[in-house]
Amino acid sequence: MAAAHPIVVRRPELAFEEIPRHWYAGDPFATHFLNALSSVFPDGEAFFVKSVLEQRERIHDPELLAAIRAFAGQEGQHSHQHDRHVKMLLDQGYPAIATRNKLLRKMTLWSIAKAPHFSLAATAALEHLTALLARRLLSEPERWTGPMAPAMQPLWLWHALEEAEHKAVAFDVLRQVAPSHALRSWALVTNTISLFLEVLDRTVYMLWKDGLLFRRRTWSSAWHFLFKKGGFLRGLGPDYMDWYRRDFHPNQQDDLALIAEWRERLADRIGPFAGQVSPTGAIAS
Ligand SMILES: [Fe+2]
Ligand SMILES: [Fe+2]
Repeated sequence: MAAAHPIVVRRPELAFEEIPRHWYAGDPFATHFLNALSSVFPDGEAFFVKSVLEQRERIHDPELLAAIRAFAGQEGQHSHQHDRHVKMLLDQGYPAIATRNKLLRKMTLWSIAKAPHFSLAATAALEHLTALLARRLLSEPERWTGPMAPAMQPLWLWHALEEAEHKAVAFDVLRQVAPSHALRSWALVTNTISLFLEVLDRTVYMLWKDGLLFRRRTWSSAWHFLFKKGGFLRGLGPDYMDWYRRDFHPNQQDDLALIAEWRERLADRIGPFAGQVSPTGAIAS
């Protein structure tokens, strides 16, 4: 199933300035949970791109090949911008984030070399998770990005828009290269757990560095932010579980209206795009 919209590669101009240490409504847990998530993107998304490009020679559909190029262009930009966020974290005094990223890079390269099909399935599965989070952010922007320091909002909204745009690419490659239902189910089970543990580990580390890890208020705010009624992860279950259906395809979860809305709304929020927008497959310059 081809995407019903072009995948657009953008190079936004984002400023990481005047961002307070606890930039999410002054809430240390929510801030560090999102810092942690952001800090896995540079190497995580480089892994996504490599695992898909690794299979490019087995794809012959020109539309899917163009979508792969656009996907790689978008994820490359995400890696770049989230790497700037990582640099901000290193400047703020969280050096172990760089160590963890080095380890993550080694593990992902090893995985692509030794288990290319599982790596591709892991990418498609993690793209399912990013699409869920993107839908959450784009559907309720005031609720989720309203509490952010203004300079952080465009990063998350722009990334969310592009995750929605390219959510089916890795899945479509996987369907042609390794269509096993068991493989993709197992990939989501294992990657949901490992992503959550990775993000939690980094969150705990940054809270510890702030001297806030053992404060009761930190963990009550964690409960409120993630799991309580209206929490960040609450209510994602049905969309998440769709993945395990044999006949699932990402485009069955219709994000076209959200994509159209946010293309308009972000046009003047993320600064002039250098090269503005490009048609599918071409990287703006
Ligand atoms: Fe991304
Ligand atoms: Fe993605």
